[in-house]
This record gives sequence, structure tokens and C-alpha cells, in this order.
Amino acid sequence: MKYSANIHTLSPSVTLRLAAQAKEMARAGRDVISLSTGQPDFPTPAPIREAAAKAISAGKTGYTASSGIRELREAVASSYSRRRGLGWTPDQVVVSCGAKYGIAILVASAINPGDKVLIPRPYWVSYPEIVRAFGGVPVVPAEGITTDTLLGAASDGAVGVILNYPSNPSGYVPSSAEMSDLADAIAETDMWIISDDIYEDLTYLDSGTPHLLDFRPELKERVAVVSGVSKTYSMTGWRIGYCLCSDEWAGLAGVFQAHTTSNPCSISQWAALAAVEGRAEKERRKMFETLRGRRDMICSLLAEEKFLEYDKPDGAFYVFARIVSDSALDSAEFCSELLEEEGLAIIPGSSFGAEGFVRISFAAGEEDIREGLRRLGRFLHRRYD
Ligand SMILES: Cc1ncc(COP(=O)(O)O)c(C=O)c1O
Repeated sequence: MKYSANIHTLSPSVTLRLAAQAKEMARAGRDVISLSTGQPDFPTPAPIREAAAKAISAGKTGYTASSGIRELREAVASSYSRRRGLGWTPDQVVVSCGAKYGIAILVASAINPGDKVLIPRPYWVSYPEIVRAFGGVPVVPAEGITTDTLLGAASDGAVGVILNYPSNPSGYVPSSAEMSDLADAIAETDMWIISDDIYEDLTYLDSGTPHLLDFRPELKERVAVVSGVSKTYSMTGWRIGYCLCSDEWAGLAGVFQAHTTSNPCSISQWAALAAVEGRAEKERRKMFETLRGRRDMICSLLAEEKFLEYDKPDGAFYVFARIVSDSALDSAEFCSELLEEEGLAIIPGSSFGAEGFVRISFAAGEEDIREGLRRLGRFLHRRYD
């Protein structure tokens, strides 16, 4: 059989592959610790699980509107309208099968074959692959995003940009001044923007994460905000995300979703409604504080490691560390050897477009984090001392 030429341009997800390999090793009896995944180890809060059980009992198990149940779209629209001080209507919301599919349907409806899309590095692994999947061309400047790189990409023909703050993999949150400059630069272009805000509620700064729309609300017509319940409410398996954008973009993305998945899982949507309506606020705050405590713990443990350099993450649940070594580093090979020799799974920086780095997740339990760092330290010292 002759397969799609386009599909061969995509790389498999290294994050999912390593997590699967670690699980397989554990099943085979190896003592394996995974600090690789992007999901908290908490159970989904009880009020959310109860809402799902109630939806099942009430027979809410059929197809829903393809862009999501009205109740959830209304709740998302009013929650984000309050948050940003801007109005979104339920028709400008598409509930998707996870934030990932939300990004996919937005990209699918925004690009034409050969269109360039700016993706600043380090980037979340799936952005370039999603852009390629729909025939676009990811543009990844060597340096991070600045007003110069943005304007340079725009004058070189880039039609859109995907931003993600707090960042996966680095937990980076820009300052207000940086975000304001970026917003001004974007306003000088015609680019559309996907703002992936999935970690927005996991910001450890009192000031929160500055947003493009805080500085340039008039960009709203061409900004699509993407978020969801996966990370904040420990609901990764429920597969609910949402996009807020213009009527036109939402309509087109909704049509794409209708023909590819019909709708997100009905039960999960009723569960997500409980989250968005704030019925699990106590649990959400507790999970957040636990993650903050783990961030402080991992940073103080890593501070003693001379072979790693990193900036303290201001959001999300990852430390993105540079390996301090005189020799050239293949981070994928580093992580494979680490998994084989020490039974520790972390993710190579090359998957995020940043060779020489590794991403360590602190969404795992405290004991796993401590033991994981002991193993990483042992491995580093064996290799570089
Ligand atoms: C930056 C970023 N965006 C989107 C997603 C996808 O979220 P979801 O599980 O809701 O599809 C992830 C998950 O790892 C992520 O890290």
C-alpha cells in the first residue's frame, strides 16, 4: 500500500514513546521512575467525578453538538470573558477533544499548503507536527522569540504564530514589558495567533501570566485562546480542551471537528462543566499548592547539581535544565542511556528544539522526585566526573 507522503514528514511523539517504554520496563519488573509525563499524579477531584457519574445515570451518553454542549460553551465564554475583561459568546467557543485537538482544528482551519507558521523554541513537541500535518511549514528561529524574530518571520511570509506561556518545556513566563512589546510587534503584522494557555492557572508568580490581549485587546479578532481542564484539574484522560476565537474561526474549526471526531466525549463535557463552574475550587487550590511545593523542592535539590543549569520555572510543572559538559551532547541518547542504566525517564531537549537540555517533570510524587534526582545525579557523575 502507498501511504500519504505527508504523514512521513511527522515524527512520533518522543514524550509518549518514552513514557510507554518506561511503563513497559516497569511491567517487566524493572524498578522505573518516570519524571517524563505532562500529567499530575492526583486523582481527578471528587465533584468532577461525581458530575460524570451523574451524567451517565441521567443518560447523557449520546452525540452532542459537535462544538460542545451549550452549557459548557456558555460557562467557558463567561469565565474567560471575566478573566480577560473581554466578551466572548458561546458561539465563539469550541470544546475539543483535549487542548491538543483544539490546536489541531484551529491550525487546520487557518493554513493553506506551504504557509509558514512561527514556532518559538523551546516549543511544545506537537506544534511543528500539527503544522506539518496540515501542509504548513514550521519556522523555528535559532534564538527565542523577540520583536525582531517576530517581525522578521512576518516579513518572510509567516502567516501565524503559536505562543505558549507558561511554557512547556521551560515553565517560562514573560514579564509584562516583554509581553507588551510582543503584542505591539504582532499588531504591526497580519499574523493570526494561537495562544496556548493550558498552564495559565499553574503560574507561581503572584502577578500571574501576562497576556497578549491585556495589552492589545484589538487583536482579539485574530487571536485564538486555547485552554482546557487537563492540567489544572488533573483530567488528562478525559480529553476536554476548548478554544475561544472569532465566530468565523470557531465555525470553521467546529466543522473540521464535526467531520473528524463528531464531538468530544459527552460524559467528559459534563465533568468539565463542574470544573469550569468552580465546583472543585478547593481541590484545585490544594493541587496547585502541592505543585508549588514540589517546584521549590526540586529546585533546591537541583541547585546542588553542578552538571545542570536551569532557570527556576515560574509556571507549569517542568524544569528545563542544560547539561553542563564540554563534549557535544545528544540528549535523546542521554535519556535512553539514563532509562536503561538507572531506570529514570526524562525527556530530551531535542524534542523541544533545544539540544543540550533535558526536561524533568515535577508532576510526580515527592518520593519519586527525590529518588529520580538521586539517579540522575549518579548518572551525571559517572558520565562527566
Ligand atoms: C503546551 C501544551 N499544550 C497543549 C497540551 C495538550 O493538552 P490536552 O491534554 O488537553 O490535549 C499539552 C499537554 O501536554 C501541553 O503541554
